[in-house]
Amino acid sequence: MQIVHTIDELRAQLKAFRRPAFVPTMGNLHEGHIALVKQARPLGDVTVSSIFVNRLQFAPHEDFDSYPRTLGADAERLEAAGCDVVFAPREKDLYPEAQTFKVHPATDLSDILEGHFRPGFFIGVSTVVMKLFSCVFAGMPAGVAAFGKKDYQQVMVVRRMVQQFALPIEILAGETQRAGDGLALSSRNSYLAPAEREEAVHLSQALRALGEAARSASDLPALEAQAMHALARRGWKPDYLTVRRRADLMPPRHGQLAAEPLVVLGAAKLGNTRLIDNLEI
Ligand code: PAF
Repeated sequence: MQIVHTIDELRAQLKAFRRPAFVPTMGNLHEGHIALVKQARPLGDVTVSSIFVNRLQFAPHEDFDSYPRTLGADAERLEAAGCDVVFAPREKDLYPEAQTFKVHPATDLSDILEGHFRPGFFIGVSTVVMKLFSCVFAGMPAGVAAFGKKDYQQVMVVRRMVQQFALPIEILAGETQRAGDGLALSSRNSYLAPAEREEAVHLSQALRALGEAARSASDLPALEAQAMHALARRGWKPDYLTVRRRADLMPPRHGQLAAEPLVVLGAAKLGNTRLIDNLEI
């Protein structure tokens, strides 16, 4: 496995290939990332993963500076998973000058839920993903890129970006990997103190309970509010717990609850750690 830092080095490594399978990450890898690498690998002729903590998707008060940087351990895990090339650019490699050209996703999808609570987040994500795609896929006839469904809205934003820019890239959405108690694996779980780690499972439990109650609900907003209050009583600070249509993340139409494919999404802070999760129902 090769570890490269610059765009030129990356392109030199990929020159002989025609269909990269790409897994972009911010590092501090867990089984969710490794599962994506293993799923993507047979779909391409070379497997590439990037490790880059992208400043553009963090607000000033967020955890950009403290986000764990664990390149050595990440590289070992990627090599064991069969990755061929790790692209780990320094900031000056990917953003040699301020990135003033940015990708602005459609606001109907990107200003709701995560985008509402993290303004500008999806501009930062779309911009870096487009740039990483250009580093990995420029000149390639086709490719595959894999993203985890834990970041449900991110997958939808990336899919739409790829479709609207007619990029010859297939997007693979990997299932969320969970710990034994049901907590969705996330790089940010490492921030949780032991007592918080025990409590953390209540987010996925709340989503499951909301999903089960939703199908027969006559007043969905009231049910969502109850679910948020229940988490708040346990000491969480919920941003949202909500049932949405899988197609566009809009609230389901009245009377359509039983008919439409739905997803329950949630985001809440436990201590200083903000966790997100979702369940398709
Ligand atoms: O999901 C992530 O880790 C990041 O948002 C991504 C897609 C690597 C872009 O920085």
